[in-house]
Amino acid sequence: MKSTETVILACILLGVMLLTTQLFEKPRIKVYKLQYACDPDGPADLLFPFCNTSISDDDRVEDLISRLTIQEKIEQLVNTAANVSRLGIPPYQWWGEGLHGVAISPSVYFGGATPAATSFPLPCLSVCSYNRTLWNKIGQVVSTEGRAMYNQGRSGLTYWSPNINIARDPRWGRTQETPGEDPKLSSGYAVHFVKGLQEGDYDQNQPQAVSRGPRRLKISACCKHFTAHDLDRWKDYDRDHFDSKVTQQDLEDTYNPSFKSCVKEGQSSSVMCSYNRLNGIPMCTHYELLTLTVRNQWGFDGYIVSDCDAVALIHDYINYAPTSEDAVSYVMLAGMDLNCGSTTLVHGLAALDKKLIWEGLIDMHLRNLFRVRMRLGMFDGNPSTLPYGSLGPEDMCTEDNQHLALEAARQSLVLLKNEKNALPWKKTHGLKLAVIGHHADATREMLGNYEGYPCKFVSPLQGFAKVLSDHSPRISHERGCSDAACEDQFYIYAAKEAAAQADAVVLVLGISQAQEKEGRDRDSLLLPGRQMELVSSVVEASAGRPVVLVLLSGSPLDVSFANDDPRIQSIIWAGYPGQSGGEAIAEAIFGLVNPGGRLAQSWYYENYTNIDMSNMNMRPNASTGYPGRTYRFFTDTPLWEFGHGLSYSDFKYTMVSAPQSIMAPHLRYQLCSSDRAVMTSDLNCLHYEKEACKESSFHVRVWVINHGPLSGDHSVLLFSKPPSRGIDGIPLKQLVSFERVHLEAGAGQEILFKVNPCEDLGTVGDDGIRTVELGEHTLMVGMVQHVLTVENWREGHGEL
Ligand SMILES: *[C@@H]1O[C@H](CO)[C@@H](O)[C@H](O)[C@H]1NC(C)=O
Ligand SMILES: *[C@@H]1O[C@H](CO)[C@@H](O)[C@H](O)[C@H]1NC(C)=O
Ligand SMILES: *[C@@H]1O[C@H](CO)[C@@H](O)[C@H](O)[C@H]1NC(C)=O
Ligand SMILES: *[C@@H]1O[C@H](CO)[C@@H](O)[C@H](O)[C@H]1NC(C)=O
Ligand SMILES: *[C@@H]1O[C@H](CO)[C@@H](O)[C@H](O)[C@H]1NC(C)=O
Repeated sequence: MKSTETVILACILLGVMLLTTQLFEKPRIKVYKLQYACDPDGPADLLFPFCNTSISDDDRVEDLISRLTIQEKIEQLVNTAANVSRLGIPPYQWWGEGLHGVAISPSVYFGGATPAATSFPLPCLSVCSYNRTLWNKIGQVVSTEGRAMYNQGRSGLTYWSPNINIARDPRWGRTQETPGEDPKLSSGYAVHFVKGLQEGDYDQNQPQAVSRGPRRLKISACCKHFTAHDLDRWKDYDRDHFDSKVTQQDLEDTYNPSFKSCVKEGQSSSVMCSYNRLNGIPMCTHYELLTLTVRNQWGFDGYIVSDCDAVALIHDYINYAPTSEDAVSYVMLAGMDLNCGSTTLVHGLAALDKKLIWEGLIDMHLRNLFRVRMRLGMFDGNPSTLPYGSLGPEDMCTEDNQHLALEAARQSLVLLKNEKNALPWKKTHGLKLAVIGHHADATREMLGNYEGYPCKFVSPLQGFAKVLSDHSPRISHERGCSDAACEDQFYIYAAKEAAAQADAVVLVLGISQAQEKEGRDRDSLLLPGRQMELVSSVVEASAGRPVVLVLLSGSPLDVSFANDDPRIQSIIWAGYPGQSGGEAIAEAIFGLVNPGGRLAQSWYYENYTNIDMSNMNMRPNASTGYPGRTYRFFTDTPLWEFGHGLSYSDFKYTMVSAPQSIMAPHLRYQLCSSDRAVMTSDLNCLHYEKEACKESSFHVRVWVINHGPLSGDHSVLLFSKPPSRGIDGIPLKQLVSFERVHLEAGAGQEILFKVNPCEDLGTVGDDGIRTVELGEHTLMVGMVQHVLTVENWREGHGEL
């Protein structure tokens, strides 16, 4: 939604609310009733063939569409889809959100028996667990609670989550929503979260490319924002007018992989096209990407929705289309099905009259829309008799669900610094603990954006009280700053006093939605206002007693001043940790939890802000001094690199086994039979995207041992470094796979990575084609390296 519109809307709403409370003694309680089509107990003449579950979905959809007038058809092409009362079809609001819990959004009405939903950490944090099971379970809880609200008439079934754009630049205000900077990690997150949301009956026997996904969906997920969308408002740029200039190479190996995985493997039933232009073409009008790539090549069988008002802007803001009717025609021809907004509704008939669109085109989009509604069971009759029909208020905010929210924060916290193993602290009787900072009593701030009403809050202060409850602690609390902007000095004196009198100090600082949010990118990576001054004053006053700095933020900060200061022994990053974040933080500091999170985004020094944020290139450019983006390409020194994250234990690796070379007999045929024959003359690369590549998969076995004093979780990240010769713009290294393990102190475990050379070792050339380089690839896990040679058939392996 446009931020100005949101503000205006919010003002009107507030006004109406104030008026109502003034006019009526008690606020009126709205009674929600689930309306549904095809009611078996309703009038028999409303039970059309499209209600008949014995008929195939496709035939039911055809039947339904054939009964609509042209005006009714157009009314179904927008997110606020009208009722068709004569067919017994109620209105439907498509726009729901469930990024990290059922969220406040147009289709969601908290209240009544469902006043709250479980609120998980933001994806920027939960991704740091590197735990696929966790992401999947979070998705399952969101869809369970979403269904429960739907059954109360308080939610739709189409959620426009997750946001899987690559976190290219830490200044982006929506970084908090994303699973980080690495395409492989983002893909893994997308697949497992989406499967958790949608669940349904996956047909394992169907080849993915032709599969239409599960027939029945629990909740419909949406991969957004397609594509190369990661700038909201920075300097003179804004997302509506921004033209992302992206090379074929970057598109193929950075911006699109998470979407491809989300569609092909996650079988997402929706994709959202973004506001920005891609090399001049507004994304919602991009036929090549929406239709040829997503729908045809990736086998997508859901609906494509525009970001909200992304159709309106095509004419109104950027004048790309000469008229609004043309804009409607462009998006419908390109393959976009649903307009979040009203442009299609307002200008659809006129576009028909001008013959810019035709009824058959509308029908094609209606098929994509109604098929998803069929799969959600919206035409199968009374929802309470259908799968998920028994879910209700008692399934929301359950103990298990809330425990998972706490567990997610525990698994994901990142220990950035821990000099001389200063943490964990011992719980000692009567400990005088000073908890200082504007986030010390954070509640809503822990929920980041796209939030709902949580079941409860456990602030950091409450977390410490809970963790130390058996030890009669004396906990003092000072704000230090009025808020994250920290513009005044007023609270600093009291904070110093508290620190001077304490045995130990926890500073809980960082930023909030006032610095980073939708519509607001940052200009600086530093802690805002006087926060650094506060830290220095408190550290000074604590006179050598232990100090830990806890940071809340949805994106990287330059806290090098604290990293360099030996008096601050430890730093923990807690992202936006959700409803129970404060508890996880306190548990980690006192050793009830051994932090195992690892960064999903590199942290940079403030001079990173000298880089032009609008530069979408991932690869460095020596002639301009541009350093490139993310750990895969950044040539300068980061503060902490992707994957950084300490533990109270010490994990060591040994390479157990990995091949010295792979020849992959089937790969060689690709050289000859490639249907996109782009061959280098010296045959130094092998073609990708062939079934055969799967057969040349190999195993890498890594032994990981916990040498430390405590049991703990650890995520093992396997990277590869491609041969340096060959195509331009080869990554410095890239993530191949990851696996999280739990190990008792002293225990070891073997981890088996299955590596597909094409998927996992491939690199993309400047022609946008992924190939596997011949030559020496280096596999890396921690400090352990292993050289693997990819050979072709000419090198001593006989005849073709
Ligand atoms: C539903 O469709 C099946 C298969 O065509 C048909 O046999 C059956 O009579 C239909 N049911 C109703 C209630 O129309
Ligand atoms: C939608 O419902 C309203 C109110 O019940 C009714 O007046 C209107 O005709 C309905 N629209 C359609 C397309 O059925
Ligand atoms: C940015 O700052 C860091 C830390 O001081 C330094 O290592 C790096 O070289 C700087 N980069 C540039 C381009 O000046
Ligand atoms: C590097 O920047 C220069 C100057 O803008 C440009 O001409 C050149 O094409 C760029 N090189 C690459 C590989 O993008
Ligand atoms: C991953 O998350 C699941 C769900 O919370 C949990 O049961 C499991 O123990 C986690 N795995 C590891 C290795 O921490």
